[in-house]
Amino acid sequence: MRFAVISDVHGNTMALDAVLDDIARQGVDATLCLGDHVSGPMDPAGAADRLMGLDGPTIRGNHDRWLVERIGKELDPVDRFAVMRMKSAHRAWLADLPATAVFNGEIFLCHGTPASDNNAWLDGWYQDRQMTLPAEESVVRAAEGVDYPVMLCGHTHIARSVRLRDGRQIINPGAVGMQLVHGSPDARYAIIERHNGRWRTDLRVVEYDHHAAAAQCVANGFSGWGEAIATGWSDADGLF
Ligand SMILES: [Fe+2]
Repeated sequence: MRFAVISDVHGNTMALDAVLDDIARQGVDATLCLGDHVSGPMDPAGAADRLMGLDGPTIRGNHDRWLVERIGKELDPVDRFAVMRMKSAHRAWLADLPATAVFNGEIFLCHGTPASDNNAWLDGWYQDRQMTLPAEESVVRAAEGVDYPVMLCGHTHIARSVRLRDGRQIINPGAVGMQLVHGSPDARYAIIERHNGRWRTDLRVVEYDHHAAAAQCVANGFSGWGEAIATGWSDADGLF
């Protein structure tokens, strides 16, 4: 079995199309998607249209939840942009997405950690452009009670593959549409494959026209995002 794992598209359809093309060339049995689908100043509706057609399970991220819960309340400018661009069918789709899912009885999907869509699992958020790596204890604690050989998470936009001492794996595919990886603006996703009873991970880097995506951000009034999408040099604070 061979699956693609995508996360954090953030409304970037140019990056998503490049990733979906790469997935089609790789050949997979299904594509799994880990949330934060539309919150970005590019093409939220186009991203939703594509993701609604995926053949694998899709869960919601923290931004997807906020878009549903906070309509009419305080939303940050990017989330407000996404709400304005989405159609009612897109909102209904987001509202129905689960926070977590189990696929094939052996793959657990969450956005942040099993317990929270807004906590980081395998790395800390950027602070002064420094990325922090967590202690083993905190990674293991968040995995307690999640009895699946493969656990997938997104949210931090940093691609990582971790094997716990008991053999379970945690994989973050990185972000399709919004890079926080210090100087690498390419799209990221993962392919996971079971081989001889073990799961192996291919963390993939996909080049796309990130300058065109950045131009969409600027044209829609979000120059800070344009800088982030064009260069990959960014911190998470201040973008939303
Ligand atoms: Fe997120």
